[in-house]
Amino acid sequence: MTRDELLEIDRAHVWHPFTPHSVYTGEAPLMVVAAEGHELVDADGRRYLDAVSSLWCNVFGHRHPHIDAAVRAQLDRVAHATFLGNATEPAVTLARRLVDLAPGPLSRVFYSDSGSTAVEVALKMAFQFWQQTPGGEARRRFLTLGNAYHGDTIGSVSVGGIDLFHARYGALLFDSIRAPSPCCYRHPGIASRVDAEERAVRELERLVEVHAAELAAVIIEPGMQGAAGVLTQPPGFLKRVRAACDAAGTLLILDEVAVGFGRSGRTLFACEAAGVEPDLLCLAKGLTGGYLPLAATLVTERVFEAFLGPPEAGRTFFHGHTYTGNPLGAAAAHATLDIFEREDVLAGLPAKVEHLRGELARLETLPAVGDIRQYGLCVGVELVCDRAAKTRYPPTERRGMRVCTEARRHGVFLRPLGDVVVLMPPLSMSPAELTQIVDAIEAGILAVC
Ligand SMILES: Cc1ncc(COP(=O)(O)O)c(C=O)c1O
Repeated sequence: MTRDELLEIDRAHVWHPFTPHSVYTGEAPLMVVAAEGHELVDADGRRYLDAVSSLWCNVFGHRHPHIDAAVRAQLDRVAHATFLGNATEPAVTLARRLVDLAPGPLSRVFYSDSGSTAVEVALKMAFQFWQQTPGGEARRRFLTLGNAYHGDTIGSVSVGGIDLFHARYGALLFDSIRAPSPCCYRHPGIASRVDAEERAVRELERLVEVHAAELAAVIIEPGMQGAAGVLTQPPGFLKRVRAACDAAGTLLILDEVAVGFGRSGRTLFACEAAGVEPDLLCLAKGLTGGYLPLAATLVTERVFEAFLGPPEAGRTFFHGHTYTGNPLGAAAAHATLDIFEREDVLAGLPAKVEHLRGELARLETLPAVGDIRQYGLCVGVELVCDRAAKTRYPPTERRGMRVCTEARRHGVFLRPLGDVVVLMPPLSMSPAELTQIVDAIEAGILAVC
């Protein structure tokens, strides 16, 4: 089919996620028909560098021969069999592999199928853990960061804090305790960024202490808050969160759905880079190299044991999805971990991170660039209409989207978060490709702002 025929069907019958359809129908979506390495190919045969890793999940490029072969080989065995009270080989062996790689005493793996469900599972587990732990019954609440994003299911939205996405559902949600995000680009009335960050961290510590008796868990995205616009965290932040949780006797859930699998530019998991061990760890996106919807919630034996007992005691975790532990996804995950090991991927990342930092430096002089935030191989370039006053563009102008649309004319596919242009390249991108992406962003900003 031609691009126009496909678009006609798309416009007539498809409802796209996070997409205002009144605008979508006027814009020109990329109609992807194939991909190769780091490039997406559209219906007209044009190629674009996938600078957002197909929404932050692709790790080693598209159609990677090793991952392709692993999925094909698994297809010859079994595509899917239930994991409810049952097991499949690749998912079982993957659990052992994840536990071996994960930090500290995480020893059990509960599979699901998206980042949202990995978080939903962690929240329900933490809640139920305390209900089944003598003396813990009052621990029913969660503490989360301002501007947090942990997914779109009702539990994960309840610990979210992005008004545009979440406010509409207020009446449906449970009430979470919110600590300020420690990224202080826009903190009114505080002269230094360091002071603002310190003040935010102290407020979090205070809230954890004040609410200690009722806290089931603190949930944090370590390293940076991606969907909030790549809001970075000050050094030592996560260690202080862990210490506050320990002092309050509560659990720490780390959501590494976006930052796991090398995004930190240093370690496989972001919490390792920070020297922190969580009680529950949520993984998805990069787990399968960006191939298939598989997610995992890892927990300590202490958490798991609270769910043991005779069936009639009602301690079982009654949660599961049809495609839980899907063997094709598990095969893709094995292959992804093979590549990390065989190619010593992590060792090559710091040089890429620094190369990217160097390239981004030239954007700093552009008047429309208010802030550039980088965490490993995650970048947010925040556009403003007045740099000194940090004034936002009117949302109706859709500057972020227009910059990304312009970048496409330079062969780069990007998707912004409002007026933050987000760059989340596959780990395997070359320095030259990273330069091409920054060139395209620069050209986009110059053309649109
Ligand atoms: C930190 C974080 N948690 C959870 C999610 C939700 O993941 P999914 O879209 O796979 O449900 C995302 C998605 O971007 C995320 O960035």
